[in-house]
Amino acid sequence: MTTAERRRILITGASSGIGLEAAKILLARGDALTVLCRNAERADATRAALSDSVQTCVADLADLASVAKVIEELRQNQESFDALVLNAGLQYAGHGSPRWSAQGIELTVAVNHLAHQLLAEELKEHTRAIVITASEVHNPSTGGGRVGLPAGLGAMEGLHQGPGAPMVDGESRFNADKAYKDSKLCNLLMALEISRQRPDLPVVAWSPGLVIARTSGGFFRESRQANPLGQALFGFVARDLLRLTESVERAGDLLVQLINEQLHQPGFSYWSNGLLGPGRHQFEPTQPSEEACDSDKATKLWTLSNGLISSLLARSD
Ligand SMILES: NC(=O)c1ccc[n+]([C@@H]2O[C@H](COP(=O)([O-])OP(=O)(O)OC[C@H]3O[C@@H](n4cnc5c(N)ncnc54)[C@H](OP(=O)(O)O)[C@@H]3O)[C@@H](O)[C@H]2O)c1
Repeated sequence: MTTAERRRILITGASSGIGLEAAKILLARGDALTVLCRNAERADATRAALSDSVQTCVADLADLASVAKVIEELRQNQESFDALVLNAGLQYAGHGSPRWSAQGIELTVAVNHLAHQLLAEELKEHTRAIVITASEVHNPSTGGGRVGLPAGLGAMEGLHQGPGAPMVDGESRFNADKAYKDSKLCNLLMALEISRQRPDLPVVAWSPGLVIARTSGGFFRESRQANPLGQALFGFVARDLLRLTESVERAGDLLVQLINEQLHQPGFSYWSNGLLGPGRHQFEPTQPSEEACDSDKATKLWTLSNGLISSLLARSD
């Protein structure tokens, strides 16, 4: 591989799951990776799982001050990237009480949305493309999006309220599953807004489909704690009996496919790994939900989120 073909990629959420699988493929291809990990221990484990050649940087996405610090370090090193892959995410559906970030923001929205918006805002002039891992559950008319309370940001009063607001809409009672769906809707709206600001930039949001790891870790780790039996049954039925899930390896492969194919396609696109039937998925460009296509809402979300991030960072100083 020539130096020109060797890409430098910054990725969040590559210490586990889909991101880790994608990182293995990118490394095997010869790309240079910078993996953002939540702490030094996770960074060591990630290098051990991947390669010592992987560059790691440390930032807890649940702490905006820590994200701002890592951005400063990347800038001081004059880092620039072929792709910024915003893939980290969490959910704790099944738990009844909100959890809070270091700045007092509901954890799902803080990690999945605000931390990634800060990275996107500060690094979008230093990357040639942005890829964001969203989810079909952002769309209330899809199979996953129909189960439980639907995604919906309302007037986003929660972002005005700031610390202590349990939900983005500022009016619903706390529901961890809806908080996750809302955060993924934020991912789509953020992608749309970045693309409006930077039409020359490829901005790709995507959904991997349902991925349930066989290990004790992975995306459903928190839900498993809340309801071990229910989650074991859900995993068995969805993954092994009905074969509704995607493998973590294939999901990682899809992420790399997007990076390979979309890196030179300016503009916004959304790709979803739709379920056709048991064990059968189709990965294709897909229309996001109606709310996710609302460009005024996308601009408002970006502005409100930036305002909130700035005020929280000012208080953290
Ligand atoms: N699995 C699914 O069914 C599914 C479906 C649709 C979309 N997605 C999306 O796919 C993405 C990857 O999920 P996954 O399935 O690969 O789950 P996963 O195995 O749990 O991976 C999540 C990644 O995010 C990182 N992360 C979480 N909180 C963080 C924090 N505070 N600071 C830094 N890093 C943090 C984790 O780091 P640690 O290793 O340190 O915990 C891990 O690397 C997420 O955005 C998720 O919303 C998943």
